[in-house]
Parts: sequence; structure tokens; C-alpha cells
Amino acid sequence: MTAVGIDAIEIRSGKLKLDLPGTFAPQKGDDPEKYTKGLGLTNSSFPDVYEDIVTMGANAAKRLMDRKGLEPDDIGRIDVATESAFDHSKPVSTYIAGCLEKVYDGDFVHANKGERKFACVAGTQAVDDAYNWIRAGRNRGRAALVIATDTALYARGDPGEATQGAGAVAMLIAEDPNLVELSNDQGYGSKDETDFLKPNQQFPSVDGKRSMKVYLSRMREALEDYESVAGKIELDDFAYAPFHTPFPGMVRKAALLAYRHVIRDTEYEDDLAGEIGRQPREDEYDDREAYEEAIREYMDELKTTEQYRTWYDDAVEPTLGLSREVGNWYTSSVHVARVSALRDALERDRDFVGETLLVASYGSGAQAEIHAETVREGWRSEVDALDIDDQLEDRYDLSWEEYEDVHDIHEYDKDLDREIEEFTAPEAEFVFTGWGRMNE
Ligand code: HMG
Repeated sequence: MTAVGIDAIEIRSGKLKLDLPGTFAPQKGDDPEKYTKGLGLTNSSFPDVYEDIVTMGANAAKRLMDRKGLEPDDIGRIDVATESAFDHSKPVSTYIAGCLEKVYDGDFVHANKGERKFACVAGTQAVDDAYNWIRAGRNRGRAALVIATDTALYARGDPGEATQGAGAVAMLIAEDPNLVELSNDQGYGSKDETDFLKPNQQFPSVDGKRSMKVYLSRMREALEDYESVAGKIELDDFAYAPFHTPFPGMVRKAALLAYRHVIRDTEYEDDLAGEIGRQPREDEYDDREAYEEAIREYMDELKTTEQYRTWYDDAVEPTLGLSREVGNWYTSSVHVARVSALRDALERDRDFVGETLLVASYGSGAQAEIHAETVREGWRSEVDALDIDDQLEDRYDLSWEEYEDVHDIHEYDKDLDREIEEFTAPEAEFVFTGWGRMNE
């Protein structure tokens, strides 16, 4: 069977940044370490006045197409994953295709276009749809363009405000891919939940603390489901474990949960038994609360062990590098985490072909998905080609008052009583020039 997977990736960050410990924390009267150590974030990316989900997605896609030497005819499918769509009918992929058609000779007239929605997990679902389309042999030799793009804003003063971000990831899904091959096995944990939702509103209604519990519950279910099809997860089989990263502190909790789950009934649990005992088993307890308390105590011990720390430092911490700098990008967040892992492998000059990643996606509402990916021969040049360091370096550093303006200008229904000037100068790129017109 020909391998199908991600052939190439491009990342586009919003061009502005908000310094969380330096600008946000003092304004809120908080200790900066709440952000850097607690949530694990240093900066957030924001879109400039002339950027939005369309321009960020189109700019990422254009760089990807140019770098890979692609013409519109090479693409049979464009799917956009977003939870920031401004149009309830016309998919964002049509707006992005419209932008791209202005700069290429051909058009995407025979490409199937759509929009995927399931909060943050939609990015992975769109990759999955593309994979299935190719596997079913319906692609006629063409590749799929998947673009995950979001402006992840919360209402001013919401506790989620610290975790905002804006950016896009474009991915080329193709046969015989350069970067990673996707496995066929998947695990799901999915339930109707109302901890984070946007019913006809731009900013989420969110119960932050509950959303963290829901994330962990769905992730545990997805791990169980994955193991039921792929067999017991062996820790040593995976070089990195990129998780959906609303903020790195969330991943710290998810990784601990995953580790406890995976080591159960293995030699890893045996090795730790002398130090912290064995994991509590539910059938040893009459009452659920007592069992849950025992699990919490076990986890508190587990996270201090050298065995766990070593695994976390090797397999999880390197996936958080970009997230710390950009915040939550919703649909593209787990794809940014994958890139952080691959960049770590490149920096360490790892012999990486054939190594496996365990990818854990999540979307509020709520669904978790787990799958494995195998690194391919061409990974090094693909990762080396990314320009994300330059983009992050070039971001404009917002003052608090400027941040307030930026938040206002990106609030769809806000009646602005003042003109807000752009903070950076557009280069050769797609810019937002008003509804119905997207020009380079
Ligand atoms: P909060 O109440 O402002 O923060 O909101 P906190 O008081 O819980 O503090 C955060 C952490 O910092 C805690 O760590 C504190 O102890 C620590 P923890 O105990 O949890 O490990 N802390 C400090 N550490 C060091 N020095 C200090 C200090 N002070 C405090 N001085 C909350 C936090 C996450 C609730 C908020 O940001 C929020 O509502 N965020 C939005 C929702 C969210 O991101 N949920 C995550 C799971 S759901 C998800 O991932 C889906 C999502 O991406 C959407 C989608 O799918 O579309 C959000």
C-alpha cells in the first residue's frame, strides 16, 4: 500500500505579539510566573489590522505551493479547519482559493472545497478526510491542501484571555509524503459537552476549569480506544508525543494522565512500585471518590519520579517550544506542536527516519483523537525550509493600549469610533482590504 501522509507544512503567525509576563501580567496585577510557569506561555501572536483567518491561511498556502512548485491543477481538494469563520454559508476555503487564484495562472475549479468544524480537533479531522480521499483512490493523482486557521480571541477580562493567539498552518496531504506517513489506526473519545462553545457568537462561553477536566476525560477514552485497535502503547515506540496545546500547562496534565495510562501493567509500573507503589485499581475501592483520591495521590508521586521526568523531557517538552511563543491557535495547535517536535529533532541532528510520533488532538465540545505517524525520508529538508523563527522575531511588540485596539478591531460586531493604523507594513502578501475583496 502506498504511504499517505503529510508531505509539507507551512506556518503563518499573526504579525503582532503580546508579551504576557511583561505587558499582560502587570496590567492584571498578576505575578508574571502565573503565565510563564503556570500556564507555560511567554507571548501570544495577534493579527495586524490587515490580517485575518483568510489572509493567514492564504499566505501559508501560497508559501507551501511556491516551495513545492505546485500549480492549482495539482490540488484536488482544499479543506479549511477553523472555528473563527465569519460566514455561515460560504466556506473559508473558497475565500482562500480566491486569493490564490489571483496569483497563479490556473484555478481550482475542479477542486472539492469545504470547511471542517469541531473546535480544535477539526484540523486533524480535515487531515483525516484528505487521507481517506486519497486512500479511496478518488484523488486522480492530485494532493489535498488542508489549512487550519484561527484568530483565537476571548472576551476581554475572560480568564481565557491569557491563552489567545492567531495563526495558520497549511499542510499538503499526498501519496508518498516527504514528512510523515499517517497510520490507519485511530482512537476516539467523544461526548456532547458544553464547557466551551460559541452559539452564534464570536467569543467563547467557557468554563475554563471544567474544560480542562473534559479534555483529560476525552483523552483517556481516546487512549483506550486507540489501544483497542493498535494494541498496547509501548512508550519506547514513540519519539515524541505532540498534544493539542491550548497552553503548555494543559499538556503537562495530559501527558501525566497518558503516562499513567500507558505504564499500567507494564515493566515501567513494576520499576516504580518500590518507590511509589502500584497504581490504585478501581476494584480495590468500594467508593469511586476514594479511588479517585488515591489516583490523584499516585499521580502527584508519579510526576516527581525520574522515570516520568525523563520521558516528559524527551517526548513532550520539545513539542511545546512554538506554543510558548504564540499561544493557542485552536485548529492548528496540535500541528504546531508536531512542528516543534520535528524542529527539536533537527536541532539535535537526530537520525529520525522511521521514528514514530503519537499525536493527540482535542477539540472542545468535545472530542479527542489519537493516532501514530511515522517520519519519512524527506523530513529534514521540509523542516529546514520553515521560516517561523524569522516571523516570530519580526513580530511587532504591542503595548497594552495597542493590544486593546487590536482586540477591538478584530471583534466583528464592534462599532469602532476611531481609525486604527496598521502596526507593520505588508510585504508581498495577501491582505484584508474589506468584505468581498481580497487582494495581494
Ligand atoms: P486562571 O483561573 O486565570 O488560572 O485560568 P489559574 O489560577 O488556574 O492558574 C493557572 C495555573 O498557573 C495553575 O496551575 C496555577 O497554580 C498556576 P495548575 O495548578 O493548574 O497546575 N499559577 C502559578 N504558577 C507559578 N507562579 C504563580 C502562579 N499563579 C498561578 N505565581 C484557565 C486558567 C486555563 C482556566 C483559563 O486560562 C481559561 O479559561 N482558558 C481557556 C480554556 C482552556 O484553554 N481550556 C483548556 C482545555 S479545553 C481546550 O484545550 C480546547 C480549546 O483549545 C478550545 C477548542 O477546542 O476549540 C480551549
